[in-house]
Amino acid sequence: MTTCQSRVMDDRFADKEFATKVVWSGTINVEGSATTPIFTTSTYQLTDEKYRRWVETGGQHTLLYSRYSSVNSEVVSAKVAALEGAEDGETFASGMSAISSTLLSLLSQGDHVVTSADIYGGTYGLMTSELPRYGIEVTMADIRDPSSFEAAIKENTKVLYVETITNPVLKVCDLEAMAALSKKHGLISVVDNTFATPWACRPISMGFDLVIHSGTKFLNGHTDLTAGIVVGRKDLIKGVFHFKTRFGGAADPMMCYLLERGMKTLHARMPIHVSNAAELARRLEGHDSIESVNHLSLPGFADHEVARRIVPKGTGMLSFSVRGGDEAALRFVRALEVIFEATSLGGVESLVECPFNTSHSFVPEEVRYEAGIVPGFVRISVGIEDVEDLWSDIDQALLKANQS
Ligand SMILES: Cc1ncc(COP(=O)(O)O)c(C=O)c1O
Repeated sequence: MTTCQSRVMDDRFADKEFATKVVWSGTINVEGSATTPIFTTSTYQLTDEKYRRWVETGGQHTLLYSRYSSVNSEVVSAKVAALEGAEDGETFASGMSAISSTLLSLLSQGDHVVTSADIYGGTYGLMTSELPRYGIEVTMADIRDPSSFEAAIKENTKVLYVETITNPVLKVCDLEAMAALSKKHGLISVVDNTFATPWACRPISMGFDLVIHSGTKFLNGHTDLTAGIVVGRKDLIKGVFHFKTRFGGAADPMMCYLLERGMKTLHARMPIHVSNAAELARRLEGHDSIESVNHLSLPGFADHEVARRIVPKGTGMLSFSVRGGDEAALRFVRALEVIFEATSLGGVESLVECPFNTSHSFVPEEVRYEAGIVPGFVRISVGIEDVEDLWSDIDQALLKANQS
């Protein structure tokens, strides 16, 4: 029998560059295989050694049962931990499963979280509708203003939660300032780094305790699975694991295999996403049918300077508002022929959505407007297609949007 030890902190490539880690970290070579095989088993042979580890450590990183860990989920956790420079990690069935498990493992009745209304709509719903039902208080502060977070901190504040780049307005959080604030007040800092990816930003190096990803997005890059990962401080990840075993949000081995495969080209895909998005942003800015454009690369963008420090490589996400409000925006979206109307992001395919009827439909209108999601707002996750084809598609659809 060939045995493989799961090894969440895979330090074999610790001294190598990002591109090498992306390809090789975590991979388990069984019987000389170049790639990790798919372990389609729900359970693993119990041995005295595993039983001892289960009793001593609670079973983390021990191949016992696939709701706890599988070979393939361990590989994904190991790769993301290596890319983010984290001590440990756990993989989940979706980004929301990773977010909810992390927050519920950190927070108890009577605790308080400081976050911002600019976060992803699903996380906003978790913060405003679910956590309060468990007696957890949440305060919304301004993601662009760390001092508003400091002002919101109370005696019972335990967690500071932010996103590196917000969805869909692309505000950039000053992660260095937020991490320093968390340390000063003894809080646990958690960041959703989905929009940036570890290729563009590594929050642990800036002082963050935990980093979460929706693996559904750029990490996988192929729009064919849902996944979530949390990496960071070993003592905190241990609690997250415990929560995973109780609430059952484990990732299945086949999905983890696909995710490992997708991640191997992260560094090759990202520069194309970013340069395509920057070029479209530049052209949109000069278009008569467009009111405003959000992209980190634009010198006039409000967060251009902070982005140069926090996410210098940029993002493939782009948003803008079409003149004529939500009706014109919908006409634009429905006239697109290459760019595909669907919620989600981060795949090689360009996807477009109007947040008001998709990712942010749970967010009240006044909160959306306050966050900058104004009438006519459109978000594009720019793929890696030919940029001229993408521009022609946008140009013809804008023409149709104006012919009401
Ligand atoms: C920034 C961000 N975080 C988390 C999530 C949730 O991820 P999932 O859909 O994999 O649960 C999303 C989903 O769109 C997202 O955009």
